[in-house]
Amino acid sequence: MKHFLTLDGMTPADFHGLLALACYLKDRRRKGVQDLCLGGKTLAMIFEKPSLRTRLSFEVAMVDFGGRGIYIRGEEIGLGEREPVQDAARVLSRYHHGIMARVFKHATVTGLAAHASIPVVNGLSDDSHPCQALADFQTILEHFGSVAGKRIVFIGDANNVSRSLAHACILAGSTLVLACPKDYAFSAGDIAAFGAHWGTSVVQLHDPAQAVANADVLYSDVWTSMGQEAEKAIRLKAFQGYQINEKLLAMAPKAKVMHCLPAHRGEEITDGAMECAQSIVFDQAENRLHAQKAVLRVLMAADGPALLASMRPKS
Ligand code: CP
Ligand code: NVA
Repeated sequence: MKHFLTLDGMTPADFHGLLALACYLKDRRRKGVQDLCLGGKTLAMIFEKPSLRTRLSFEVAMVDFGGRGIYIRGEEIGLGEREPVQDAARVLSRYHHGIMARVFKHATVTGLAAHASIPVVNGLSDDSHPCQALADFQTILEHFGSVAGKRIVFIGDANNVSRSLAHACILAGSTLVLACPKDYAFSAGDIAAFGAHWGTSVVQLHDPAQAVANADVLYSDVWTSMGQEAEKAIRLKAFQGYQINEKLLAMAPKAKVMHCLPAHRGEEITDGAMECAQSIVFDQAENRLHAQKAVLRVLMAADGPALLASMRPKS
């Protein structure tokens, strides 16, 4: 593993290895064991969009490992505007040991990766949010004891979060059911990327009540993602009925409730659904830290590759 940009193309062995490593690192942190494996190293943290979880969890991860995350606002460096992505990638590679970027265009993270001599991590692009999906599957592993054979019902649109969850489901041997309005479905490009898994591991429906049957997880995300603010009024209308609420929960009484956060309570999810006994949203938020520590360890620490190899499932 050289970079962490999407889950599409990752091997199931690496995916399971990263989950095992995330759980191992979580346990060590709980026990107060220090792993200063990134002492003296820095992570450039570029944010073209706002963040609570991603910024703070990466920054804490670097502190835990004895290194430092250095935050820079996208407007300040103007990737692709003030200077070409390939120039910025080469300059950042002279100062830092890794780059984490939250961007609009996915091509910005692939461009950084193509020209940097250091690892690049996607902290969310318009297309994908792989750090979120990794943390989500760590949370599923903890709550269900395994990640295979789960039915994860995402009520919302085909966006960065549901797309990464779909690829994670393929790697885990689970099923992602997207319940979306007809105009907010997976694209032809998505369907091509899902390949033979489309219709089996990735399923699309339009009626949330039909989708939630036998769900293990009900998953929600905002109706209007960062960068789509101009579409807010249209989306508010289009997504009416695509809310995780008490009525939907009653149809899936055993399902856990997940949300990547931030939540717009009263829109895509109700207060009751956020706070109910089935909700595991704050475990998800915590696991961003542990899952990302696994990614940083593998990509940036001297012992990372060997540690990942030792965590891969034995076949
Ligand atoms: N879930 C998530 O990525 O949260 P932030 O936008 O706060 O980083
Ligand atoms: N789909 C959301 C996820 C936020 C973590 C967005 O892109 O804004």
